[in-house]
Amino acid sequence: MKFFLDTANVEEIRKALRTGLVDGITTNPSLVAKAGRSYRDVLNEICDLVNGPISAEVLSVDAADMVVEAENLAGIHPNIVIKIPMTQDGLIAANALVRQNIPVNMTLIFSPLQALICGKIGVDYVSPFIGRLDDIAHTGMDLVADILTIYENYGFDTEVIVASVRHPVHVVEAARLGAHIATLPAAVFDRLALHPLTDLGMEKFLSDAAKIPRE
Ligand code: G3P
Repeated sequence: MKFFLDTANVEEIRKALRTGLVDGITTNPSLVAKAGRSYRDVLNEICDLVNGPISAEVLSVDAADMVVEAENLAGIHPNIVIKIPMTQDGLIAANALVRQNIPVNMTLIFSPLQALICGKIGVDYVSPFIGRLDDIAHTGMDLVADILTIYENYGFDTEVIVASVRHPVHVVEAARLGAHIATLPAAVFDRLALHPLTDLGMEKFLSDAAKIPRE
């Protein structure tokens, strides 16, 4: 299973990279707005740091404009993957980009049908938003299961990025289903290694270690 970090915050990326667990980065306009810097500056810096796919989202809404914007973004670095929203225009733009061999991550996926048509045109990644489905009383992880079944049925190579991850249980569920990738906010990433019994165990080892006679 691959882990992407879902952030446009370069300090969070630097810190997480030290674990050796980060396989790529996903960004979106909301994350870049939070970082308070220009999208291009952030992407340039991330590309210098990370050796893996880096998703950059188009801000245009018209298919032709999306393609032009995507071509510009793709020119920043060979690791850039173009994030395209799952709209009618997005679908047309994604199809054009796939034909140009520009990698595409289709985002804002909320239904198996949306994922099916993305697989059919051959995008590299789809991003189902699990937490946002949970927020409206759907079971987001059911969508991941459906997409994986559909892709298996037809032998699609499109990889599933489990996105809108809100807590560590989402990561476990995604792994159980065999999702290719989970993209994690730093707050979730930082909790992957934690367990209260590990902390208690350490406390005991350290207090017992203090009792060992010194040589
Ligand atoms: O990768 C998409 C993700 O950033 C959306 O997360 O928490 O805004 O639903 P959230």
